[in-house]
Amino acid sequence: MGYPLKKTSLNLLVMKMSDATAVRQAQLGRFTDRLEGLSARLQAPSPVETGQLVHLSGMRLEVAGLRSPIGSRCQIWGKVPVEAEVIGFHGDRLVMMCEGSAEGLRPGAIVEPLEGSDRIPVGPGLLGRVIDGAGRPLDGFSPPSGEITVPLQGAPLNPMDRGALEKPLDVGIRAINSLLTVARGQRVGLFAGSGVGKSTLLGMMTRFTEADVVVVGLVGERGREVREFVEDSLGPQGLKKAVVVATPADTSPLMRVAGCWRATAIAEYFRAQGLNVLLLVDSLTRFAQAQREIGLAAGEPPVSRGYTPSVFSLMPNLIERAGNLGSGSITAFYTVLTEGDDLQDPIADSARAILDGHVVLSRTMADSGLFPAIDIEASISRAMLQITDGSQQAHARQVRDVHATYQANRDLIAMGAYRAGTDPKIDLAIRHHKAVHDLIEQPLDQPANFDSSLTRLAQVSEAMEQDNGPAATQMPLQQKPVETMPAPLAPATR
Ligand SMILES: Nc1ncnc2c1ncn2[C@@H]1O[C@H](COP(=O)(O)OP(=O)(O)O)[C@@H](O)[C@H]1O
Ligand SMILES: [Mg+2]
Repeated sequence: MGYPLKKTSLNLLVMKMSDATAVRQAQLGRFTDRLEGLSARLQAPSPVETGQLVHLSGMRLEVAGLRSPIGSRCQIWGKVPVEAEVIGFHGDRLVMMCEGSAEGLRPGAIVEPLEGSDRIPVGPGLLGRVIDGAGRPLDGFSPPSGEITVPLQGAPLNPMDRGALEKPLDVGIRAINSLLTVARGQRVGLFAGSGVGKSTLLGMMTRFTEADVVVVGLVGERGREVREFVEDSLGPQGLKKAVVVATPADTSPLMRVAGCWRATAIAEYFRAQGLNVLLLVDSLTRFAQAQREIGLAAGEPPVSRGYTPSVFSLMPNLIERAGNLGSGSITAFYTVLTEGDDLQDPIADSARAILDGHVVLSRTMADSGLFPAIDIEASISRAMLQITDGSQQAHARQVRDVHATYQANRDLIAMGAYRAGTDPKIDLAIRHHKAVHDLIEQPLDQPANFDSSLTRLAQVSEAMEQDNGPAATQMPLQQKPVETMPAPLAPATR
């Protein structure tokens, strides 16, 4: 009796168990369906997030409804589309700056983020081209083709991966090659007022250097100057192995700053190919001034002569990107405007501290018609001791010393107040002044390679040493008092 009953309950139990399994299977099925649905929704392109223009004053814009990060770019739909960059935020509003003119924008205009705006296309097709800060062609040809994209602001580098300054770079300028030797990977400032010959000197370097590629960043120049630089200073010969990124003074501060970053990113691309790149930025002062405009629009406080803190933090970021990496190098020259010998200029001050040397152009020399007007007394290459041999250093010291003596007594000599024979050192300096002048002077169309520069330096220095002129016999140069020796070149800081 008990057995069939037992069998029934067992059947019931089995039925209940299979019901439970079916329920569980159904639940699992629904769960898998939901997961699949979610994954499909995740993979589907999400609708583009847009914001609205709610405030505009000058070039400063405020946008509500967007959460784009600092440095990203957006398009604002006005009469014509206007591009803008996020430079800060204020509560839930983004603070942006227009890249071009804000004309035609109206309240409530739609603001749409631009994807991939922090990377730029680069490739060998850039050689020989003149482009603007946004990479658009300025030379009338089609847009340069890019091979790959690289980050505009550069990838962070481990300082330990950087190569030391070891080999000299022939820049094709005699005074620099011989007396202010520049190392591959060195960062040098070219300090001068306006109209002293900075652009002309950069043009000569572009044409004469042994570097494989020259990248020129023209920032904040007048439009006419860009054309003059490309056509006259560079010429077709210089342009062949050069890339020019030009952002004249009439472009927005964002564009001028972007021009500097872009020139540096292009130089980094060629360095990554194992090439020796010469990067010429004219000028760092205009970069700083453009960044000041951006900083002030973003609401930063002015801290030094109206310059905002971001200027002083971005300048080292820009300059640090030059240097040696792997088998390639970026040797960089940054021009710095020093009007009226203003020693208080915070940009010149800060640049002097970050750079590995400075070449100073003298207005007095330029006024007297001596070009390139390189003031060898005021200039210094901090890498020189590491990369030159003892004999070149001795010759350079000799020439610098004789030149310094002449300069110190220059007014006396010019007035005729100095009586020959009074001081043998001054007599020697007078006799060799012309030779030093000729060592510095270099016509626009004459390159001076490294070997010829050193030979010329040795000739001038040896002639000084062997000079036993009537007034020089009592005190040969070899026994010069210590205090008249020029200050030793400071060792490089890295
Ligand atoms: N090497 C040179 N030889 C002759 N003249 C020069 C030389 N370098 C500069 N100059 C003169 O100086 C002027 C200004 O030069 P530029 O290079 O434009 O100066 P900057 O860029 O410092 O304003 C030129 O127009 C030219 O007359
Ligand atoms: Mg110039």
